[in-house]
Amino acid sequence: MAAKQIFNIPYIGINRYFGTDLLIGSGGECSVVLKITNPVTRFSAASAAYDEFHALMINIVKIMGDGYLLQKSDVISKEKYPLKDSPEYLQQKYNAHFEGREFIQVNTYITLTKQVRKGAFYVFDKKALRDFSQQINKVMDILIAGKTGPVVLKEAQLNLLIMQFLAMDFKPQHISLNNFSPNDTEIRMGDRAIRSIPLINIDNVDLPPTVSTHIEMTDKDTLRGFPVDFLSFLFRVPDFEVIVFNQVIDIPNQFMTIKKLELKKKRHSGIPDPANTLCVEDIDLLLNDVARESQLLVNSHFTIILAAQQDKIQKAANFIESALFSLGIMASKNGYNQLELFRCALPGNSIELKDYDWFLTTCDAAVCFFFKESMPLDEPSDFLVRFTDRQGVPIGIDVADLPMRNNRINNRNKFVLGPSGSGKSFFMNSLIEQYMLYNMDMVIVDTGHSYSGLCSYYNGKYITYTDKKPITMNPFQIKKEEFNIEKKDFLSTLVGLLWKGADGIFSQVERDVISNVINSYFVHFFSQPVADEIPEKLAGEKLFIAQLDFNSFYEFALWKIPEIKQEERIPFDVDEFRYVLKKFYKGGEFAPILNEPADESLFTERFIVFEIDAVKENRVLFPIVTLIIMDVFIQKMRFRSSRRKTLVVEEAWKAIASPLMAGYLLYLYKTVRKFWGEAIVVTQELGDIIGNAVVKDSILNNSDTICLLDQTKFKDNYGAIASVLSINETERKKIFSINQLENTEGRGRFKEVYIRRGAVGEVYGVEVSLHQYLTFSTEKPEKSALEVYFGHFGSYQRALDLFVDDFHASKLALGQFVSHINQNDKPFLNHSHEDNPDPSFPIAHTAV
Ligand SMILES: Nc1ncnc2c1ncn2[C@@H]1O[C@H](COP(=O)(O)OP(=O)(O)O)[C@@H](O)[C@H]1O
Ligand SMILES: [Mg+2]
Repeated sequence: MAAKQIFNIPYIGINRYFGTDLLIGSGGECSVVLKITNPVTRFSAASAAYDEFHALMINIVKIMGDGYLLQKSDVISKEKYPLKDSPEYLQQKYNAHFEGREFIQVNTYITLTKQVRKGAFYVFDKKALRDFSQQINKVMDILIAGKTGPVVLKEAQLNLLIMQFLAMDFKPQHISLNNFSPNDTEIRMGDRAIRSIPLINIDNVDLPPTVSTHIEMTDKDTLRGFPVDFLSFLFRVPDFEVIVFNQVIDIPNQFMTIKKLELKKKRHSGIPDPANTLCVEDIDLLLNDVARESQLLVNSHFTIILAAQQDKIQKAANFIESALFSLGIMASKNGYNQLELFRCALPGNSIELKDYDWFLTTCDAAVCFFFKESMPLDEPSDFLVRFTDRQGVPIGIDVADLPMRNNRINNRNKFVLGPSGSGKSFFMNSLIEQYMLYNMDMVIVDTGHSYSGLCSYYNGKYITYTDKKPITMNPFQIKKEEFNIEKKDFLSTLVGLLWKGADGIFSQVERDVISNVINSYFVHFFSQPVADEIPEKLAGEKLFIAQLDFNSFYEFALWKIPEIKQEERIPFDVDEFRYVLKKFYKGGEFAPILNEPADESLFTERFIVFEIDAVKENRVLFPIVTLIIMDVFIQKMRFRSSRRKTLVVEEAWKAIASPLMAGYLLYLYKTVRKFWGEAIVVTQELGDIIGNAVVKDSILNNSDTICLLDQTKFKDNYGAIASVLSINETERKKIFSINQLENTEGRGRFKEVYIRRGAVGEVYGVEVSLHQYLTFSTEKPEKSALEVYFGHFGSYQRALDLFVDDFHASKLALGQFVSHINQNDKPFLNHSHEDNPDPSFPIAHTAV
């Protein structure tokens, strides 16, 4: 090994005792190395999590007791996002978009070292080793309980780790050691340089007077108070390759240490000098802490080891020093032997630290400097959708199954809120595209053509409501075994809606009468003789129900209601009922809607969009159409019980969020849960959620996941939203950090979204490839330019490919390119040999 010529590797070897591989140092001290994950996820705004980890580390120190060293090594390194594989076209584009993107990783190791008493000869002591092994188990238990996922490194892993430390290169493969050439300020290794920056300058201890488990951001108004790691600036160091933050605590004999301190105090107080008084005061404070709060005294040591290219290292080091300065720490510049500090950062080798490297303080204070953050990782699930983490690389999260399994949520339903233009539909497109990678059936009710691109991509069914082609459904057409209480409730609600309108009041008497009529209607139908067995004379009679539909129900009701009225002597306005419902009857304006059966293919199609913009302003039709679509969805759910399904309702839910339909909404949510489904309601209207009891009781109470887009527009009104959505202070901080971090460099255009599953939420980036952007975009000009290509080439993928190729070839900005296409109504370049052979098949929209 080349390095050996410069310095001796400080280990004798690795030995296995009591099932654990121990790293044996040249002085006989032995160490175990644990890989852990810092439990505070970066930008999780969880102040309490910093405190908890702080308490956990103190516990470990206490359990270890004197004679032990605790070393925490946080390795911050840069990686490149690898090219991932996918059979799916848009996912390939997504993967290509992120390939090679640099991101920061944090790997954390804890090394526990059993020291050999100074001056003593090393003797093999089986009992001591057994004790050590028990200590390790205790520490493991604490780390497991603290959700840090500790793993004890085995021989091969230890060997690799030491090589990685020696090379200051933490890539998993091909580590090569260069010659070390240390000088006063750094160590050179090939093109790179390594600098060790101790946090504490022993000649003149300059530390902030008080420290805490973490600090708060102060940069921007919206971010004020956002908790981050004390040393979170390490993530922002310019041009570094690797940073190792070496944190060591040595636990001395308490009695001896206190005694020494008291002695020192006495010595100092003899000489009246301001500097000495300070020292006396410090010692007093320390002794006070120890006495009053039973704190542990520890020797601590902190060094930042920085590796960068030689021409970059000065800038990086300056950044670190000034960041430390702004935290109240005067970093020691270069007073030390660089090689010595570097060696002491090797796992288990902090025993080489000299007296002057240590700083005596309380364990509480020392642990404040410990690094506590990690980067978010893919969730352990096989139902992942990908968004980016806040530094801009994809991570997989499970927004459906895993959080159900671990009881984070009790239903998969989601509520999406954000002002107009904040990216709700775009986010939904991205989610839906990924949901479709699984065995998912998708039904979307939209009022703004936000999903037409995705529908074309998936070759789905796009149903636009027009007066000529209304959406029809015959909800009365059911089989005998399908007639149950739920169906009856649905039909009562539907009749109430037809009669009273969404905002009307359906009195108890009226509801009971209608319910009674519905019951009689079906009983009558199912008990009457089948059509060809009917005696001649009966066929012409009024009471014969030839076919189940609204027409025959209407006729039956007008016969039955007066009968009930007379028997029961109750008020019921039959004339009003007859008159108002007539428009849905034979010859009426809306006759087809409830008399013609739904398109059969709706039950087998995987991807359906109902675009009902055309009835949005129609107070009569809008709620009815929405309701029947939801019923189609429920039928579909029963029909395809072995598949996942999602119902997405944009704005249209408003039409049915009325007291009259509250019961139905609850029923929908309950049924969705039963059939492996989820309902997602998307809205922009604040007024609609605040103060609407139906929304609160049915939609919000049954949506354990809420997704919020940029809420700054709602800032003044936030108290009201926060209380409706039960948003606490921690979550509020995360929400107001949406789109506020300085994390846009080197990334494509993106927007952030906050997703709260259960009680706790996280913020993710919605960043996609250009191909996906074009598919998801709701900008009219962009959509129509793409449709020009689609019309031309017939295949959506082909259209995307050529659109993107032409766009790049054009060297225009996207906006310019788009208006060029729209003005000329043809592709930018001539791809005539590739034109669609059948130009009669132009666009995605098939009106049904
Ligand atoms: N994550 C994103 N990345 C890139 N562009 C986005 C993103 N989200 C939204 N946009 C842009 O903003 C436009 C408006 O977004 P949209 O989702 O339609 O807003 P909303 O539905 O909230 O009104 C989109 O058409 C798109 O051009
Ligand atoms: Mg939208």
